[in-house]
Amino acid sequence: MIYSYKIIIGAMVVFNVAYLTYNVTISFKDDPQTATTDFFDDKQYIIDTPGCRIENVDAFSEEIRNFIYKFDKVTCADSEPLTYVSRSGENVTLNINNSLLNTYSRFTVSCCYSTITRNHLAPNPDDDITFSDCTYFNDSVLISENFVFVKCTNFYHTVYENVHATLQAPQDYSNINAPNILLIGIDGVSRSNLIRTMPKTFEYCEKNRWVNLKGYNKIADNTFPNLMAVLTGMNFSQTSHVCNPYERGKLDNCSHFIWKVFKEYGYSTAYAEDTPTIATFNGIKTGFIHPPTDYYFRPYFLAANQLSAKYLCLRAHCTGSEKTGIRMQNLIKTFLSTTKDRTPAFGLFWMNAFSHEDVNCPSSMDDDFLEYFQELQKDGHLEDTIVIFFSDHGFRFGNIRLTHTGWMEERLPFIYVWIPEKFRLAHQEEYKHLQQNSERLTTPYDLYMTLQHILHLSNNSFVQSPSQGCLECQSLLKPVPLSRTCSQCGIPQAYCTCSTYEQINKNEPIVLEASKYFIGRLNEKVQSYGNASRGCSVYFLNKVSHARSLVIKSKSEQNVMVVVETNPEAIFEATVKVTYDKYYNSTFSLLEVNRLDRYAPKTFCVKDSPVQIYCYCKSLLKQLTNIFCNNKFYYLNNKLTSELRRGQCVVLH
Ligand SMILES: *[C@@H]1O[C@H](CO)[C@@H](O)[C@H](O)[C@H]1NC(C)=O
Ligand SMILES: *[C@@H]1O[C@H](CO)[C@@H](O)[C@H](O)[C@H]1NC(C)=O
Ligand SMILES: *[C@@H]1O[C@H](CO)[C@@H](O)[C@H](O)[C@H]1NC(C)=O
Ligand SMILES: *[C@@H]1O[C@H](CO)[C@@H](O)[C@H](O)[C@H]1NC(C)=O
Ligand SMILES: *[C@@H]1O[C@H](CO)[C@@H](O)[C@H](O)[C@H]1NC(C)=O
Ligand SMILES: *[C@@H]1O[C@H](CO)[C@@H](O)[C@H](O)[C@H]1NC(C)=O
Ligand SMILES: *[C@@H]1O[C@H](CO)[C@@H](O)[C@H](O)[C@H]1NC(C)=O
Ligand SMILES: *[C@@H]1O[C@H](CO)[C@@H](O)[C@H](O)[C@H]1NC(C)=O
Ligand SMILES: [Zn+2]
Repeated sequence: MIYSYKIIIGAMVVFNVAYLTYNVTISFKDDPQTATTDFFDDKQYIIDTPGCRIENVDAFSEEIRNFIYKFDKVTCADSEPLTYVSRSGENVTLNINNSLLNTYSRFTVSCCYSTITRNHLAPNPDDDITFSDCTYFNDSVLISENFVFVKCTNFYHTVYENVHATLQAPQDYSNINAPNILLIGIDGVSRSNLIRTMPKTFEYCEKNRWVNLKGYNKIADNTFPNLMAVLTGMNFSQTSHVCNPYERGKLDNCSHFIWKVFKEYGYSTAYAEDTPTIATFNGIKTGFIHPPTDYYFRPYFLAANQLSAKYLCLRAHCTGSEKTGIRMQNLIKTFLSTTKDRTPAFGLFWMNAFSHEDVNCPSSMDDDFLEYFQELQKDGHLEDTIVIFFSDHGFRFGNIRLTHTGWMEERLPFIYVWIPEKFRLAHQEEYKHLQQNSERLTTPYDLYMTLQHILHLSNNSFVQSPSQGCLECQSLLKPVPLSRTCSQCGIPQAYCTCSTYEQINKNEPIVLEASKYFIGRLNEKVQSYGNASRGCSVYFLNKVSHARSLVIKSKSEQNVMVVVETNPEAIFEATVKVTYDKYYNSTFSLLEVNRLDRYAPKTFCVKDSPVQIYCYCKSLLKQLTNIFCNNKFYYLNNKLTSELRRGQCVVLH
């Protein structure tokens, strides 16, 4: 039949855009549970206080077992890197490891290096780097820039390429008794998913007195607002006003970034993110005109991404001969050794490469993280460094997200806090409070307050300011009240895990009404972006796949949460507030919208606009065939095929 042929073509178009992956072994294991169970709570609630009760959802619950598997560790190259960086005092040297030369070539090899600089004069400096001419060197050479690209050739071809951070030491000395503070983040990993995919890392943290904040609840949907809450204390509408990431220059002018405060108090600051195209402040946002921190690693990763890549989970898992995740780990160490004995260090190191696209993908890095934390400990770095090892939210789309477990996890990112012994002894009360708060409801705004509190403890001339997004939020080194509720700590109702929504019948009239209302508002939302959304299709309701309800005030107010599938094919979760008057007439308002399907391949027509999260590109539909079937108009997609084969269908060209 003619349409089944076209279906295949249509599906392949999408496939090519999204799934260009390198062949890497994936092993499926029958039993995914490899962590020792000593550290699991078997309590019914992880948080159980008068103000909040959070259900203890089993990380291996029956309904998600089919979605869990493990990725093998990836090997990026057969031999170790041919070049390495060493430092002695202020001298930073790039070296060739001569003992490896014959593994790279049988012939004479010569190497040259280029310095990499951010191009300040470019229209978009965050996306523009310049390489100097390549200078040949033998054995080793002194470097005076922060980043270099190195290339080695034999008589015939290039045998090796790499990018190194050759960080230059800070100019001044200051306040060296203050602790270093590292924010090490892995995007989109819930507490349960850490347990599932990184059991060794989880066990390391549990065994070594890292404090697990089990009731850390996200405050908004995706990365940007949740990270901004940590870095500025503001909520999304406030950042849109004063630190608008869609308006050029506003992020530079955003005086609220906490790294600016740390710099003012003598810290050296750093910010790195491993996947330039989807970085928190770039991607569809404007990025920075000037480097926001003393050490800014964007040029490093732009250059690393030009090396030949091996893909895993749709991202460059290997950039050249090194794992992207290990590059990040090494940069953190380099940052610490560069600043050591000169200034304290404050850095945000954010990883997307092995976690953003597949809920199981962090398993590929479990061994690496275990070894890394053990090394940091062995090298003494953990003696003077506070580490916040955390995420921004759980996994946000796909099959797992359609289950109750997935719904809970999406709202509960993992977070561990490492406090060095020296600090624990000097501030025993504060440390005790932190431990107690492990079982209280906490938020990213509290983390913002905590960072300020730590700075205040090392220099009490620093005056802390409240978090604007949540005036009642507080340092986690002080006791969080047991009576705390979501609304008291800036968590919108739709993301609150304290009060669980009840499953309701999806055929109830109110569910259909709320879904139709939502589709109307969704189309308006798309339209509201004006010309930017010209390429986006109008949505129709296809079906309601789940519905949950939370009664707020008996008889007069209810939140209805629906998961709807649309035509053309997208999946949204919407929270609609329903208010009833005395005649039981209802009025609706839209509280939250989340998109649950993988939308990047469907939204290439609006890549640089915030409308992306709501869009489905019309041009994609043109590549598919429209058909009329069972009295309904369909856009063809691979999911509908079997249903359509059974129906009475007319192909429309
Ligand atoms: C740094 O390099 C200079 C020039 O090569 C040399 O004189 C000096 O001793 C080196 N300093 C250290 C600490 O290695
Ligand atoms: C140089 O390569 C050898 C052989 O792999 C390795 O054992 C050694 O650690 C490397 N040296 C440095 C400084 O990285
Ligand atoms: C490197 O060594 C070779 C052979 O000894 C020599 O000819 C060349 O000039 C040297 N290059 C540099 C940049 O020192
Ligand atoms: C505390 O901060 C003030 C203001 O920046 C500075 O003058 C002072 O030296 C700092 N104190 C210490 C111990 O670093
Ligand atoms: C940023 O601040 C500077 C100095 O106050 C001002 O001149 C500039 O217009 C501001 N830029 C934006 C985009 O707000
Ligand atoms: C942000 O905070 C302000 C002030 O508390 C509030 O009016 C606004 O509704 C909040 N916005 C969001 C998105 O939470
Ligand atoms: C929108 O697009 C139309 C047609 O290309 C153009 O005439 C109009 O000026 C655009 N409007 C805005 C606000 O950019
Ligand atoms: C509410 O319901 C009453 C009784 O069913 C009806 O008369 C009235 O028109 C309704 N009001 C609105 C605003 O729909
Ligand atoms: Zn994120």
